[in-house]
Amino acid sequence: MKPELRMQFLEAMSRAATFVAVVTTDGEAGRFGVTISSLTSVSADGDHPSLLACLHHQSPVAGAILRNRAFCANLLHEDQHDVSDLFAGRMADGQHSARFDRTSWTPGELGQPNLVGATASFQCRFATSMLWETHHIVVGNVVSVELSDNAGALLYGQRAYRRAVQLSAAK
Ligand SMILES: Cc1cc2nc3c(=O)[nH]c(=O)nc-3n(C[C@H](O)[C@H](O)[C@H](O)COP(=O)(O)O)c2cc1C
Repeated sequence: MKPELRMQFLEAMSRAATFVAVVTTDGEAGRFGVTISSLTSVSADGDHPSLLACLHHQSPVAGAILRNRAFCANLLHEDQHDVSDLFAGRMADGQHSARFDRTSWTPGELGQPNLVGATASFQCRFATSMLWETHHIVVGNVVSVELSDNAGALLYGQRAYRRAVQLSAAK
């Protein structure tokens, strides 16, 4: 790939503000979690709602999800940027086990860690995955959703954390 095209791609995508999630998994492969911006809704109308996440193949989280066959996608609240940094390995003690010691969790319906204070948490059963270049595209069937009173989701765009500002009347 031409380096210039890669740089243009990264700059273009940095302008696409996305919400930030921490994907967690627990089970026979162990407990892991990582910060992602690639969480996407796939369908609300199948047998279950479904969503997808793109996880780097070198992150232990991807392999653990494939073995644990379940995960939780925690949509972060706008005050949780420190949690985002923690699960992105940006803190000094960024080991996966230490990440969980620094935050509060409750087990969800599938036993997957729900992050206390998250805007929303989706307990997911692993459905399918595909390795594309460097990332596993993981699809999960949502079996339960936990909603907190904190509706404002944390955003990441132009290489900084942000919050959404309302521009028009809600419909
Ligand atoms: C805002 C933000 C969004 C990110 N989105 C993703 C993502 O969608 N997929 C991914 O594999 N890593 C993503 N990362 C990087 C991971 O959080 C992590 O830093 C990297 O995978 C190192 O993984 P490890 O410390 O779990 O081994 C993101 C990091 C940040 C700060």
